[in-house]
Amino acid sequence: MDLYPARQRLCRSARALRRSAITALAVAAIASLPLTLGIAGAQTNPASGDPWWKHAVVYEIYPRSFQDSNGDGVGDLNGITQRMGYLQGLGVDAIWIAPMYPSPQKDFGYDISDYEAVDPQYGTLADFDKLVAEGKKHDVRVVLDMVLNHTSDKSQWFIDSASSRTNPKHDWYVWNDGIAADSPGLTAIQKKNEHEGKVPPNNWVSIFGGTPWEWVPAVHQFYYHEFEKEQPDLNWRNPVVEKACFDAMRFWLDRGVAGFRLDAIPTLFEDPQLRNEPETGGTNAYGDANVSDIYTSNLPEVHDVIRRMRAMVATYPGDRVLIGETYLPNTAELDKWYGGEAKDELQLPMDMLIGMNGDHAKLDVAKFRQHLEEVQTQVHGSQPLIVFDNHDNMRAIDRYGDGVHNGDINKLLATMLFTTKATALMYYGEELGMPTTVPTRKEDVRDPTGLNGWPKEKGRDGERTPMQWTPGPQAGFSTNPKTWLPIPASYKTINVAVESKEPDSQLEWFKKLIELRRTSSALRDGKMTMLDTSNNDVLSYVRSTGSGAAVVVAMNCTAEAKTISLDVSGAGVAGTKVKTLATDAVSLKSTSTLTNVTLPPFASWVVSVE
Ligand code: GLC
Repeated sequence: MDLYPARQRLCRSARALRRSAITALAVAAIASLPLTLGIAGAQTNPASGDPWWKHAVVYEIYPRSFQDSNGDGVGDLNGITQRMGYLQGLGVDAIWIAPMYPSPQKDFGYDISDYEAVDPQYGTLADFDKLVAEGKKHDVRVVLDMVLNHTSDKSQWFIDSASSRTNPKHDWYVWNDGIAADSPGLTAIQKKNEHEGKVPPNNWVSIFGGTPWEWVPAVHQFYYHEFEKEQPDLNWRNPVVEKACFDAMRFWLDRGVAGFRLDAIPTLFEDPQLRNEPETGGTNAYGDANVSDIYTSNLPEVHDVIRRMRAMVATYPGDRVLIGETYLPNTAELDKWYGGEAKDELQLPMDMLIGMNGDHAKLDVAKFRQHLEEVQTQVHGSQPLIVFDNHDNMRAIDRYGDGVHNGDINKLLATMLFTTKATALMYYGEELGMPTTVPTRKEDVRDPTGLNGWPKEKGRDGERTPMQWTPGPQAGFSTNPKTWLPIPASYKTINVAVESKEPDSQLEWFKKLIELRRTSSALRDGKMTMLDTSNNDVLSYVRSTGSGAAVVVAMNCTAEAKTISLDVSGAGVAGTKVKTLATDAVSLKSTSTLTNVTLPPFASWVVSVE
């Protein structure tokens, strides 16, 4: 699914127009913490002075789909704990677990009803503590998903809020009286939603379809929900809401989590005047008029909250990290989410501009090159975080794939993901080349966006199918023949057990690159210089350190063989002889020069300069 189509469209048009390591002190502080758990794996690279997240590979886990330990057909926390050895073997530094708090599961956990507990479906708090402790043993930190834009409508906060206008929590959510149903200039979406002679105050559209304003007869008001109606938006203009949410974050920080991925964070605030969004033409998959999001996303007020949040998190030792789900129109906006020059907001807002560009993505060399340069030079030296795959978008192998070379294309994307200076964010199954398996019948659909938008919008189930561990029953995911989403037919060949025995598999490619990223000083710390910059078929760059280590990376982004000659002297690199470190092209395994090198279709080539 194209989760934020309006935003992605905005991104595209905007682009077209312009588009401490742990110090001894911190270690001591961790040791003296009144916690039993501390921070999982807090020791990465104490020598370089860099915080752990700067060189990290972060692995997203959709907990329903990773590993079922109790045979109910749904993944759980103990399942993740059992797979820590696998995660460590792959080389990941941290896992981000999608929401596992109590929830009616209307949006599979992104509708939280209690911020300080674990959904019984996924386990208990004791299981969570075990998971963090086991992670620590395996050097795998645990990052939680924090949903602050909205709660579930079954949260006690909302139940109280919706009970009466005089309830002390009424102002915790975004309420509005609506406007008279005979007001002039109403739009279709307003007219469709009349209650007691009132209609919604504006033309806004929910990301999940329909009006985002839901009428509650008990209070004779509408509440705002950017997503499903069961996900009412919190009112961040009320300081008590901030306090409650920060308290929830502290609850988990005290239990030893390494940080948070902040869900839908640019949308905390809405325009106080509730102005109509400009219409952008046409209708979305749900049949609503397309509108912009200038009054519902990325409002400047959000940055004050983020600065206070950063300061709160910074009171904890161990380089806890704030990662943002930041779909933004351009690099200048991305820079603001770091706090610009002050660098006092998120450490890692996700850069969605490079790898999340709608369902029909293109391997566009000029665009990759330009964007990789932009995030090196236009974010005040902050650390980029790149990502190609997540639980909201068709898997990258299918978005970028041409149907013929999908495996090579997946390897190429991994090559880019792991060899730039950016922190790398990956999604479970990406390392196997797991394909998107979209439901073919409405009755099989579980995701609310697919239920609302069928058949035009088939939802996000396709990228959330169970992890494929083995060629055995239920792909080794569960002992229950009925899993919450069906096991895709591809599991027989695409799975961990089979791929770990094949040297040329996706899994082995991912492992090799992650290992190189960890062991090569050039890939770890080297500056990045683009090479052959007028070539729009092959993306190439060199990573080089002051002490002479250099690694060249070249990726053929076309379906034809391409011959390149790369000159690294301009990047201050002396040697001309090379040694292949990794390639998926047999013909390049023993290539020892950078001149007249022919890359087969979609080949990736990583070499050290000798
Ligand atoms: C984010 C999540 C998505 C969820 C939405 C509402 O975009 O990634 O899965 O549906 O927020 O919480």
